[in-house]
Amino acid sequence: MAVVSESPQPSGRPARVLTGYRPTGPLHVGHWFGNIQSMLELQRTHDAFFFVADWHALTTDFDRTERLPGNIRELVLDWLAAGIDPQQATVYLQSHVSEVAELTLLLGMITPLGWLERVPTYKERLRDLAEREIANYGLLGYPVLQTVDIVIVRGEVVPVGEDQVAHLELAREIVRRFNGLYGEILVEPQAMLSETPRIPGTDGRKMSSSLGNDIRINDEPDVMRKKASSMVTDPQKIRLGDPGRPEICPVFALHQKFSPDILVETEAGCRAGTLGCVKCKQNLGERLVAHFGPFQERRRALDPSAADDVLAAGRDKVRPVVEQTMKDVRSAMHLTT
Ligand code: TRP
Repeated sequence: MAVVSESPQPSGRPARVLTGYRPTGPLHVGHWFGNIQSMLELQRTHDAFFFVADWHALTTDFDRTERLPGNIRELVLDWLAAGIDPQQATVYLQSHVSEVAELTLLLGMITPLGWLERVPTYKERLRDLAEREIANYGLLGYPVLQTVDIVIVRGEVVPVGEDQVAHLELAREIVRRFNGLYGEILVEPQAMLSETPRIPGTDGRKMSSSLGNDIRINDEPDVMRKKASSMVTDPQKIRLGDPGRPEICPVFALHQKFSPDILVETEAGCRAGTLGCVKCKQNLGERLVAHFGPFQERRRALDPSAADDVLAAGRDKVRPVVEQTMKDVRSAMHLTT
């Protein structure tokens, strides 16, 4: 996700923005630029709600739940060390809000199966994880649960990368259907379209933990250096002296993120053949280590219990918002006694 502009409502109050992340394991450089940086900006410009989508993680990881508590804690600690400020943003855990499950059931009653079966991510997940038998009700219902995440706190804008556009469209359709049936109760969320920067992994494909090509933001300095050195480069540049093509080189793509001050000489040296790939990758390794050093230091200084404290406080902060939405919903649906 990229930079987002200030977006005050007509009333002058900042719009409520909401985004959630599945706690599926250690964050890498792709997440750092794709998610963390935009969260830092959003907490400054918006009424930001950031939550850990642990129930969403179950759609694919229901058979390895023992990792969940650790993953949740690690994710929150990473957020804190990166500068997410729970005083500015509301940071909470999806499963702490049991009304999310209640509203998911209710919205499920008005969501046609066809809408869900059409969602591209559903088909992709089934295909990618074909051997794991995850064609479950919960996976099909993923976008309903996501809709609830948004509407239960009256989220107005949701930053979406390409892969999430269909989910947000569906959320808007479900909201329109709900409001058509029961009255104008739910807020129709707007997509905040953002470009996802393409961060290549060590093998040149998009960085991803499941591809094993990721450089993690908590990797030890030596691991970072080693991973940088193992990166693929322009295959036509074989030895020092060969001219290279920075525009197709994954190492250069990372230099663009980490080394703005030596970018000109890196590019020129590569093209001229005077800068060899070994040296260029060493430079990148040092940049990675320097870039993440202060973050890792803050991360080490955090008491792990800080994550639990933040989530407990976040739970108290979302509670009144959620209770109001549920009161309105139950009453509109004649579910009050
Ligand atoms: N689907 C998102 C992802 O895969 C996570 C998510 C769950 C989310 N609920 C959300 C994002 C609500 C934005 C709003 O990363």
